[in-house]
Amino acid sequence: MLFVEITAILIAILATLSIVRSTHKVGISPVPSTRRARQVILAAVADRITGDGPIVDLGSGWGHLALAAARRFPERRIIGYELSPIPWCVSILLKKILGRHNLVFYRRDYLKADLPGAAAFLCYLFPGGMQALEEKLAREKKQVRLIVSNTFALPRVAPDELIRLKDIYRTPIYIYHKSIASMTQSL
Ligand SMILES: C[S@@+](CC[C@H](N)C(=O)[O-])C[C@H]1O[C@@H](n2cnc3c(N)ncnc32)[C@H](O)[C@@H]1O
Repeated sequence: MLFVEITAILIAILATLSIVRSTHKVGISPVPSTRRARQVILAAVADRITGDGPIVDLGSGWGHLALAAARRFPERRIIGYELSPIPWCVSILLKKILGRHNLVFYRRDYLKADLPGAAAFLCYLFPGGMQALEEKLAREKKQVRLIVSNTFALPRVAPDELIRLKDIYRTPIYIYHKSIASMTQSL
């Protein structure tokens, strides 16, 4: 019994250390969007004409948002990119348990990935991450249909819409839609 307990404690310590290390490396912890934020983010995709291209969660964490997107948009391909190993493993497991066949999780840095064109991008990052994303999209002249960002704005582009969640922080959700085509050309 003692052996099982010690093993469980060791696994918990190693998992925590792995998450702390990844957080330090990428600049943000894998804290998921709240349920309310997920609803608003997915409604922002559903309410706009974004074609039938993929929906991409840039930094998919434990998979909450991508799993919810896969459920809400069963006809679309959902892609999650995540660098932190433990959250990525958990997201893969949840995908298998829930049987979301339109969803794939890559353990990859989305800044180094060849992101798909004509996609809708979802993110919950940090200021430096938003700047790096903006620079990547501009550099690669990607055709982007939509960006919905929890909490953090793109630094140089005005959002088409800003929704405030009814939570204690009045969390902003930034929506880039009509501006997005010209954005990637003019930056
Ligand atoms: C705050 S969590 C958001 C999780 C999920 N998108 C959600 O809204 O519930 C941000 C995640 O982005 C990941 N991340 C940050 N930069 C990344 C990068 N360049 N490539 C892949 N993942 C990244 C972090 O490891 C973290 O798990």
